[in-house]
Amino acid sequence: MIEVRDDAFLLQTRHTSYWFARTAHGHLEHLHYGPLLPPQDPEALRTKRALPYGSSVVYAPDDEGYSLDAIPLEFSGIGQGDYRLSPIEVFTAFGADVDLVYRGHRIREGATPAETLPTADGGPGVETLEVTLADERAGLELTLLYTVFPDEDVITRRTVLRNTGAAPAEIARLASLQLDLPDRGFTIRSFDGGWIHEAHAHDRPVSSGVFSIGSTTGASSNRHNPGLLLIAGDADEHCGWAYGFNLVYSGNHATSVERDAHGSVRVRSGIQPQAFRWPLAPGEAFEAPEAVLAFSDEGLNGLSDRMHRFVRAHITPERYRGLERPVVYNSWEAAFFDIDEKRLRGLAKQAAKLGVELFVIDDGWFAGRGDDRAALGDYAVDERKFPSGLGAFVKKVAKLGMRCGIWVEPEMVSEDSELYRAHPDWALRIPGKPAREGRHQQVLDLCNPEVCDYLVEQLGALIDGAGFDYVKWDMNRHIADAYSPHVPHPGMTAHRYLQNLYRVIARVLEPRPHVLLEMCSSGGNRFDLGMLRSAAVIWASDDTDPIERLDIQQGLSYLYPPSVVSAHVSASPHQQTLRDTPLSTRFNVAAFGCLGYEYDLDFLTAEEKREITEQIAFYKAHRTLFQFGRFRRGMPGMPTPAGRVVWQVDDGDTTLVGNFQRGVRAAPERDLLAIAGLEPGIRYRVTAKPQRVMLERLGHLVNHVSPVRVDPNGLVMNVVSRHRSLPDGVEQYTGTGELLASGIRLELQFSGTGHHATTRMLGDHGSTLYLIERIEREDDA
Ligand code: GLA
Repeated sequence: MIEVRDDAFLLQTRHTSYWFARTAHGHLEHLHYGPLLPPQDPEALRTKRALPYGSSVVYAPDDEGYSLDAIPLEFSGIGQGDYRLSPIEVFTAFGADVDLVYRGHRIREGATPAETLPTADGGPGVETLEVTLADERAGLELTLLYTVFPDEDVITRRTVLRNTGAAPAEIARLASLQLDLPDRGFTIRSFDGGWIHEAHAHDRPVSSGVFSIGSTTGASSNRHNPGLLLIAGDADEHCGWAYGFNLVYSGNHATSVERDAHGSVRVRSGIQPQAFRWPLAPGEAFEAPEAVLAFSDEGLNGLSDRMHRFVRAHITPERYRGLERPVVYNSWEAAFFDIDEKRLRGLAKQAAKLGVELFVIDDGWFAGRGDDRAALGDYAVDERKFPSGLGAFVKKVAKLGMRCGIWVEPEMVSEDSELYRAHPDWALRIPGKPAREGRHQQVLDLCNPEVCDYLVEQLGALIDGAGFDYVKWDMNRHIADAYSPHVPHPGMTAHRYLQNLYRVIARVLEPRPHVLLEMCSSGGNRFDLGMLRSAAVIWASDDTDPIERLDIQQGLSYLYPPSVVSAHVSASPHQQTLRDTPLSTRFNVAAFGCLGYEYDLDFLTAEEKREITEQIAFYKAHRTLFQFGRFRRGMPGMPTPAGRVVWQVDDGDTTLVGNFQRGVRAAPERDLLAIAGLEPGIRYRVTAKPQRVMLERLGHLVNHVSPVRVDPNGLVMNVVSRHRSLPDGVEQYTGTGELLASGIRLELQFSGTGHHATTRMLGDHGSTLYLIERIEREDDA
């Protein structure tokens, strides 16, 4: 709900309030963003300013106490006395000097979609407040748009700058959002990394000066996700105040957190200003991307829940909303480039038997693509690998009961390709300078409309020609050579590329609503809300090692729901870390996302096949919960013990908990498992999902349980371990919601003193999934 009372603007969601007010001089003073406040006179929230302050610059001669440096502002200018970092830098005839004051406002029902960028969808109860500020002398008009999503407790903000003057202006920076908050002992949590270690959470206290994250790679990047949290001093996963910020944008971004000497913290977020320039002719307007804000006084889990619900209801494209994601098999980690019809058919047959629903042909299917050095940009199928064509393969996969998907990397071109030979000028290139390649490839100039048309045509023909139901859209390098002759100013290249990319994706996908889109960029190099406006899921990382994924998926979980995180089970030892992990843990981690498998099924033992078949059946039985349930990290009433990770999803009736152990300690401490979100007074049954300990994991220890002595490296053991395994931790507990919240004392872990059916065989990297269900009748217990 949006209410305007005198000069105050009250934005109310179900559990939060965001208030600001006009000052006597027309600036917008930020008053409150936090728990829901009933509408009232906000005077107590205003910054008191009876007297001038030391060296500060006074805005108006007749109002000595009015210095903009001391006022929390909705959007600052430059040169008016506020010396914190400005969200706007526009060059006009008056230099960068800009003073934005209130001119008017209106309230509209629903969201107001941007024309040039993706923005969140509206829905019931959604309203938008547009406040117009202007600097008439400079000829600039700025519209601040606030969209209120009451049910999800989210507010989005964006800005539109219009040149109302007679002379051209040039934008060097236009942030989407500025938010000035009183410091509450904040910690900043950012999600950083690189290839195969994306989205690791890092914390540091807010202190004097500026902290910033951003990207200059042309994508939102694996270096710093655009999302960021501010966590109040006493908050944790379960309680306390926390703020979340994110951007609906997939390109170069910048977010800074600045603390001034008066304890005010300014968050500023939007397009990265490095190498950015946007000329604005008289009458023209520029739209900055939409920024997403959420507040929770129920800790970080509360904050994530709000972000998750927002993504599911307003970011995920309508056609994918609530749509269960299929269990996927992807050929990449099984075969890399070494694919052909015969090999893939063999894999597909086995995948179908295991219960897979959709088979994805990854890289290597098109002519000339024997490795990563050639052929990007071309779409002709390699007839030696697929003599009967892709369409025939799709039909064969359909006969096995699966749908079929295809990998593409549309934004790229290899120098050794038909496309490059025909159109060498279609790649981004600094005039007169050799290309800077990454993964032996160059980036197509999406500022060129001809390139965009080519992609729309080729991709459409590929999808329709073979009948694909799924596209994995990859982008495997950072952008360099960001120069295009197709924009009026070189500083426009990176942003125009993005605007056109969004349009290309929409032109390919919107006419084909049955096609599921998986985004990928060397894993999670473009994991952002901009991509999620078109994609059903994003490949979170090329790193499928489950122990690494604990960090990656946990980092993403602060901002993104499991329904958009694509997560696959792969071989062990892992291709990047050499870490050996149990098959059970590989599944238990991937299950908290959109499940897939990508490894060589030819070498699975009968026992592994049984395990995987059961995993997929279990996942399908609880898929809605895994993908759309309420996700929580940690345990109520206690910090997560070192070396453990606990995740849970629930829907009010059923709960699934993953209990993960990174590394074992000898004589381990007794483990407690506390479960959140259960109803007091209701009785529940907690059952560990049955899983196997493969005999090869036990090595020579097998002689402790085997009736006859066997050579752990011998033939007998080899044969037996393909067909036999040990049950792992048969556990069951019952109790009321409050009992389970206070903590189950779990069965013992293996600690060298023998084995019992209930023993949890965790060791290094072991884990258990627990299913918690209501006990309807006491005799069910
Ligand atoms: C990237 C992707 C992988 C795979 C390869 C194919 O690395 O992230 O999943 O598709 O490209 O070349």
